[in-house]
Amino acid sequence: MPASKPYCNDPIGIFDSGVGGLSILKQVATVLPNEHLLYFSDSAYAPYGEKSTDFIKMRCQQLANFLISHKAKALVVACNTATTEAIADMRQHTDIPIIGVEPAIKPATKLSKTQAIGVMATHRTINSSRYRDLLAQHASQIQVYNVVCYELAEIVEQYPQGNQRSMVLIEQYTKEMRENRVDVLVLGCTHYPFLTEQIRQVMGEHITLLETGIPVALQVENILKQHSLSCTSLQQGKIEFFSSLDTPAHTDSIHQLWGRNVTVKKVDWVQ
Ligand code: DGL
Repeated sequence: MPASKPYCNDPIGIFDSGVGGLSILKQVATVLPNEHLLYFSDSAYAPYGEKSTDFIKMRCQQLANFLISHKAKALVVACNTATTEAIADMRQHTDIPIIGVEPAIKPATKLSKTQAIGVMATHRTINSSRYRDLLAQHASQIQVYNVVCYELAEIVEQYPQGNQRSMVLIEQYTKEMRENRVDVLVLGCTHYPFLTEQIRQVMGEHITLLETGIPVALQVENILKQHSLSCTSLQQGKIEFFSSLDTPAHTDSIHQLWGRNVTVKKVDWVQ
């Protein structure tokens, strides 16, 4: 629950299990340059994709409380895994708007000429009932190759552009798709857009890669308008970075992925 009624010039709180949500933050900052943004990277607890549902729910509520205590007027769950596992619960416990992220299945089915699409995501996302419903709603008529991509998000946490191991894993994970004329590949985890170069190298230049940063940013814009919460400032918004981890290597990953050095505040304890 927010401590007081949200105000339109309050910040938007955005979080992910780690650095992956920076791919969403970038687009929100581009679409809404005057908004003040808070980003929380829960890297001490990444990856979420292999944690229990109860753990993910608890952690997401703690992060939501932290961001609300920093006056967030709306929340963006910049993580497919956290959205599938925890957003419904979070909505029951807070009365500010919460925007989630989910694999871009509907646009993928529209774009595919071969009627065969691939989806790369975490174990939790692929095996969630929310994801199954999404497939049933939009993709019952086409072939979908779902691949649980163990380890990839962890690699991005440490090696922002990937490493040899991620290349080997991508080759392995996409083998069946490559053999079956998949022409659209959905990046169903916000860490994976940072591996675009490696994925293209393996899949070939013809592949259409779908990530969700821009649609999510536009959705945030709409939701703020609907709630009369769009900021009125004409100045460029501030972006503040928080993390549950503060090793130099982690800070360096954030700098590389964000494209410049920023101050990352370490948060020891959230509840
Ligand atoms: N970035 C998260 C997502 O979009 C997953 C990474 C993790 O497993 O923590 O699903």
